[in-house]
Amino acid sequence: MDLQLQDKVALVVASSKGLGKAIAAQLSQEGCHVMLTSRDVARLESARQELQAKATGKVACHPCDITKAADITALVAATHEKLGAIDILINNAGGPPGGNFEDIDDAVWQQAFELNLLSCVRMIDAALPDLKQKGGRIINVTSSSIKQPIPGLILSNVFRMGLLGLGKSLANELAQYNILVNTVAPGRISTDRTLYLDQLKADKRGVSVEQVETEAQKLIPLGRYGEPEEFARMVTFLASPASSYVSGTAIMVDGGMVKGF
Ligand SMILES: NC(=O)c1ccc[n+]([C@@H]2O[C@H](COP(=O)([O-])OP(=O)(O)OC[C@H]3O[C@@H](n4cnc5c(N)ncnc54)[C@H](OP(=O)(O)O)[C@@H]3O)[C@@H](O)[C@H]2O)c1
Repeated sequence: MDLQLQDKVALVVASSKGLGKAIAAQLSQEGCHVMLTSRDVARLESARQELQAKATGKVACHPCDITKAADITALVAATHEKLGAIDILINNAGGPPGGNFEDIDDAVWQQAFELNLLSCVRMIDAALPDLKQKGGRIINVTSSSIKQPIPGLILSNVFRMGLLGLGKSLANELAQYNILVNTVAPGRISTDRTLYLDQLKADKRGVSVEQVETEAQKLIPLGRYGEPEEFARMVTFLASPASSYVSGTAIMVDGGMVKGF
């Protein structure tokens, strides 16, 4: 299938590693011009060089802390300067810290709100004038917690639902501009984030991280964690003109892990 992504401009947030990097890699190999961003400048430039070597489109990068409004404004300006108007916005971020309700204080609630919800609101606001010109795609990366709350991860359970609601509302509001908005929810994909959460559980229980992984994999019908590329393929399809009648939906990429519909 021709995804018709040639020469589209994609801004992929939080893309120096993990899911964001895998999404950026696939989009750039499909002919998109891709803007990478994250905070660590050295890791960002290294990811840019790695992706550019295999890309058919241009790969640029610009550092940004997505919890800072001024950084987002500068990121969109840099995207215009280096690549042109944005056709595709992939909203992604680092994950919030683990913990139950009684572990989280006011300041940490505020930080997670800024990282995992307000950043997406601001990114969409900043990219909207571009997207309204020609139509486009907004894809929000969330978590399996939109279907099934994850024990010990209350900040994700709360703010991913906010992002899900934002995506569904905007699919309705922005359809008039041919902007399609979708949510994609990873289950357990092998990245540093997954390792961090498994290590947290292992430390709490006094067992090895390998034991935690083995137990978690047994609960996944496909019997293993996913690879970032497997997640990125779904996002790449949704980002493409080939997904022209898919909007307002939330798609799990979880190997069947979530038990409900
Ligand atoms: N992997 C999974 O199975 C899974 C499952 C459910 C949900 N998720 C969620 O999906 C998202 C991506 O996960 P991942 O596994 O790819 O995580 P990851 O491997 O830890 O990568 C996170 C990326 O976000 C960047 N980042 C973090 N804070 C940022 C900030 N304030 N401003 C800009 N960039 C920032 C990081 O770069 P810098 O640190 O250099 O900024 C890095 O590029 C997270 O929200 C995670 O919770 C993942």
